[in-house]
Amino acid sequence: MGFSVYVRREVPEPGMSILRSSCEVVDVNPREAIVPRDELLLQAAGRDGILVTGQDRVDAALLEAAGDGLKAVANYSVGYENVDVPTLTARRVGFSNTPDVLTETTADLAWALLMAAARRIAEADRYVREGRWHGWGPTQLLGVDVYGRTLGIIGAGRIGCATARRAAGFRMPVLYFNRSRRPELERDCGAERIELAELLRRSDFVSLHVAMNAETRHIIGARELALMKPTAVLVNTGRGPLVDEAALVEALKDGTIAAAGLDVFEEEPKVHPGLLPLDNVVLVPHIGSASQEARSKMAEVAATCLGAMMKGECPPQCVNPDVYDEV
Ligand code: DGY
Repeated sequence: MGFSVYVRREVPEPGMSILRSSCEVVDVNPREAIVPRDELLLQAAGRDGILVTGQDRVDAALLEAAGDGLKAVANYSVGYENVDVPTLTARRVGFSNTPDVLTETTADLAWALLMAAARRIAEADRYVREGRWHGWGPTQLLGVDVYGRTLGIIGAGRIGCATARRAAGFRMPVLYFNRSRRPELERDCGAERIELAELLRRSDFVSLHVAMNAETRHIIGARELALMKPTAVLVNTGRGPLVDEAALVEALKDGTIAAAGLDVFEEEPKVHPGLLPLDNVVLVPHIGSASQEARSKMAEVAATCLGAMMKGECPPQCVNPDVYDEV
């Protein structure tokens, strides 16, 4: 008790109850939308802990604004490219994310996009709603088969592996590109580790799951899209900047690839205007982890971690455990 925390976006239960029962002051941004940066800096002042989302920049300026009393920052997200972890560590501020609890949920969405893009589900839905359907037709809304086709996974971390595991039900061979070998993926799914170019050439479906950093920015650009099959489908539930959106627009327009399913965008919440008129791309607003169960578990993890780190304890989801080493 005695702690003062600022919560950038109200999170589902049990997150708020955990915070309220373990802190003296819990101030929550009352707005639905992301508040301006200035307000975050102002609200951070004098706090013991801050609960942020993946949309907030956590850097030296924020720590400066918070002051020396800041003990912990919890990210309501598994990805943390928004956070300058070395700076937090240097100032001995604990930092946590929300791994594991959204893995299967995000893999489900990767498959939802894969299926929707392959079978033109969003386009077919619009077709019916707009009153354009005047009867069954032999060549109406033809998509591509999923069963038995090859799935290429770029980035075999937790979510990449969970996405790969689902391929067994569709009898799909799995290829993967990853820095290191994943023996369990090879054993459980018969997955084959290959270079990126070969994966792009051989896959019918390519799903992106690498972490976002300077090295992986635009891992899929014009050159990579040109390597893919004209019948291939690209799925991105990772991070928007992994794909060069301008190059993707061209590839979807000129038939370099057949279709795409995107949950994430280069400059969220902006969507490249070239994507909007295209029927061969399914667009959803960063809902990879958006199931009631996952978001509620994320809230529990973030709130519990924040409480523990403020007390000087190191929870398993702490990204910079060095902060808790004896000095
Ligand atoms: C994550 O947890 O990284 C999701 O993309 C939500 O930001």
